[in-house]
Amino acid sequence: MTAVSAEPFPFSHFSADATTLYRYRSAARTPGPEPGRAWQAISEVRITDCIGSTPLFALQNVVGPSDGKLLVKWERSNPGGSIKDRPALHIVDAAERLGLLRPGGTMIESSSGNFGISLAMIGAARGYRVIVLVDPKTTRANLNVLNAFGAETIVVDEPDDTGSFLKTRIVLANQLAHDIDGAFRPDQVFNLLNSHAHYRSTGPELLAECGQRLDVLVGTASTGGQLGGLSRYLRERAPHVSIIGVDAEGSAIFGGPSAPYLIPGLGLGWTPANLDLDLIDAAYKISGEDCFYACRVLARCEGVLAGASSGAAIITALRYAIEGGQGSTVVCVLSDGGDRYLDSVYDDDWLAAEGFELGDPVVAQLRERALKLTAAQEGGDLLPTVAPGIGETLEVPATTTEINAVLRREWTEQGPRSGDSAETGSACGR
Ligand SMILES: Cc1ncc(COP(=O)(O)O)c(C=O)c1O
Repeated sequence: MTAVSAEPFPFSHFSADATTLYRYRSAARTPGPEPGRAWQAISEVRITDCIGSTPLFALQNVVGPSDGKLLVKWERSNPGGSIKDRPALHIVDAAERLGLLRPGGTMIESSSGNFGISLAMIGAARGYRVIVLVDPKTTRANLNVLNAFGAETIVVDEPDDTGSFLKTRIVLANQLAHDIDGAFRPDQVFNLLNSHAHYRSTGPELLAECGQRLDVLVGTASTGGQLGGLSRYLRERAPHVSIIGVDAEGSAIFGGPSAPYLIPGLGLGWTPANLDLDLIDAAYKISGEDCFYACRVLARCEGVLAGASSGAAIITALRYAIEGGQGSTVVCVLSDGGDRYLDSVYDDDWLAAEGFELGDPVVAQLRERALKLTAAQEGGDLLPTVAPGIGETLEVPATTTEINAVLRREWTEQGPRSGDSAETGSACGR
C-alpha cells in the first residue's frame, strides 16, 4: 500500500480570519488573466472554472514491459463530459469580452454531439439561450443531455451534396443567427479560437505534466481544433515531439476523397481551417472495426470506458508505444467517455446490425491490429483537401471573421507565442 503523506499538499485552506475557503488552482489552468494567482476563493469557483486540468494516467495492461509508456489525457473529466468544453468556454469568454455575446443572448450552433453539449452547459450556467442544430444521426443519449441542460434542438434532416448533414446544418444555423436578435454563432468549424483553446490550455497542461520526455502525441480530428492547437503549441515548445493525427476511414481531412465515415466525432469532407497539415508528422485513417475493437479492449482490460473516437486514437498510440520501445513516452488524447456510446459501440446488437463481428476483446489481438496499421501519408506529404466551392456554399459568420481577424492581429503583433501570454491582455487570448 502506498503510504499517505502526513502533510498532504493543501488543496484548499481558510483565510486568516477563517471566513473564506480558498482552493488551489493548478499552474496549468492559470495561464489566465492573473498568471500568478494560484488560489481562488471557493465561493468564486464556477462550474466553468472546472474545465481543463484533466487527469493524465498510464495504461497498464495493453502495453508490455518492452514497450514505451502509453499515457492518456482523460478529457471525459471535463464537467460537460468531453474535450469540447475547452473550445466552447474559450469562444464564449472571447465573445463576451468582444461584446459579441451579451447578457440574455442566444448561442446558435451546428453540432451533433459534444460541442453542442458543452455550449448547452455553459449557456445554462451563464443564462444564455442555446439552440443546437442536430441531425437524424444524433444519438438519443446526446439529445437527452442537451435537453437536460435546457438547450433547444432543431433536427436538420436534409442531406447536403456529400450525403452528410453538416453543410445544411451550418447554413440553417447561419440563417437563424441572422434572424434572431442578440444571436451569436460560436462556429466551431471556422472559428480559429477552437484550436487556440488547445494551444492555450491542453498544450501547456500536457507539457507541464510530461515535460520534455514526451516523444509522440496522438490526437484525433474533425474540426481540427485539438490537433491544430496541440501541434502548434508543441512545435513551438517541444519541436522533437512527433505529432500523429488520427481520423476515420472515409474522411478527407488528411487528403483523399470523401466517403461516408462511421466513427462518431471524427471526420470532415475537407481539411479544416483550424488544422495546419504542415505540423503533422503522420496521419492514420482508422476503420470502424479497429476503432470499436480498441474501445472494447480499453473498457474490459484497462477499466477505461472511453468514447468512440478514443478507440481510433488508442490503437494508433499503441503502435507507437510498441515501436518506440522502453524509455519512450506516447501521449494519447481520449476526447470523451463511453457512457454516451452504450447504445452503439458498447452494444453487441448495434455492432451486429452494423455488420461487425468483433469477437472477445483481447489485448494480444489489439496489439496485432495496431501493428498492421499503415499511415495514410507520412513525412510532410499530407495534402489538404479543399472541398470545391466550400467558400461559396458555406457562409462564414461575420462574428467568426471578426474574431479571426483579432486573433491573427494578436499573433502578428505579439509574435508566434502570443497565444498563451496572459500578460499581453489580449482580447482573444485570455
Ligand atoms: C469525441 C470526439 N473526439 C474527437 C473529436 C475531434 O476533435 P476536433 O473537432 O477538435 O478535431 C470530436 C469533435 O467533435 C469529438 O466529439
